[in-house]
Amino acid sequence: MELSQVEQYATGAHASLATCDSLEALASWHQQHLAKAGELTAFKKSVGKVAPEERKAFGMGVNQIAGKLEAAFKQKTTELKDAELALRLASENIDVSLPARPHRVGGYHPLTLMLREICGVFRDMGFTVYESPHVELDEMSFQLLNIPKHHPARDMQDTFFVSEDVVMRPHTSPGQIRAMRELGPGPVQVILPGMCYRNEDISARSEIQFHQVEGVLVGEHVRFSDLKGILLNFARRLFGPDQAIKMRGSYFPFTEPSVEVDIKCTLCHGEGCRICKHTGWLELLGAGLMHPVVLKNGGYDPTKVRGIAFGLGVARLALLRHQIEDIRLFFQNDCRFLSQFQ
Ligand code: PHE
Repeated sequence: MELSQVEQYATGAHASLATCDSLEALASWHQQHLAKAGELTAFKKSVGKVAPEERKAFGMGVNQIAGKLEAAFKQKTTELKDAELALRLASENIDVSLPARPHRVGGYHPLTLMLREICGVFRDMGFTVYESPHVELDEMSFQLLNIPKHHPARDMQDTFFVSEDVVMRPHTSPGQIRAMRELGPGPVQVILPGMCYRNEDISARSEIQFHQVEGVLVGEHVRFSDLKGILLNFARRLFGPDQAIKMRGSYFPFTEPSVEVDIKCTLCHGEGCRICKHTGWLELLGAGLMHPVVLKNGGYDPTKVRGIAFGLGVARLALLRHQIEDIRLFFQNDCRFLSQFQ
């Protein structure tokens, strides 16, 4: 046995190591060459067959070759492991540069936005919010507001009755009595926002449920001109500093005198258009000086204090603000409509 034979073998072994392209191939290479029953072990054992004077050199040579093969094997193992890891990482890679899937975020309903805006304007004028029940006594909704049972003024609202004495409130006005009774006998300055219910035929102009915001101001020095000032300021805050309003005499059982307030058409500015039916004006709300009977029912002495009250429809303002022509859209909950207001 000559060392050159071992060297020749080693050259082949290195070459076949280089062609190993997986950890499995590497393992069988190891089995063939470096394992106990491998070819290299056989060479090591053959040292006995070498002539005694060459044995030392042969042994050292074989050991050197074995060392090199082992080192090469180790290096190859590391290389293949690294490559496999890199491959796995690449396949499991999260591409952070991919555009994100759109995430739909909810938004506020246009009526909620309108309601908040209205409340904000009145808050700036010193009003606080007072909430009263949606399911309300007939007494609060009508009788204490100067509308006795069977009074023809009840026809102004086609009311949903829960029982003989309980109704779904057809307006926010019952809150007038509740607010005065709870917050009196001193001055009261509140708005009463909330949903109201009426048995209306549903059409482009009316729904069976709708938001109102009622305003109540009670005190010794309250005058009709306060009503005018508050409402003019309100209209100008919503529709711009040149917005004009107009008061027309009207009738509500719970106010005396009563008015209806119009705003100059926000679309044609009084020129006359389809929206204002060529009158140049749009009906905005009902209002008036609180009737002495109502003040009395609220716990006040009507000879000493006065009150003003007004009630406006929120959807009406939202229709004007967004130039929408059908109130039904607000409750159909079609996202294509609703998402335009966020
Ligand atoms: N409650 C009346 C309505 O619903 C509006 C109103 C409120 C009128 C306050 C005068 C005073 O039509």
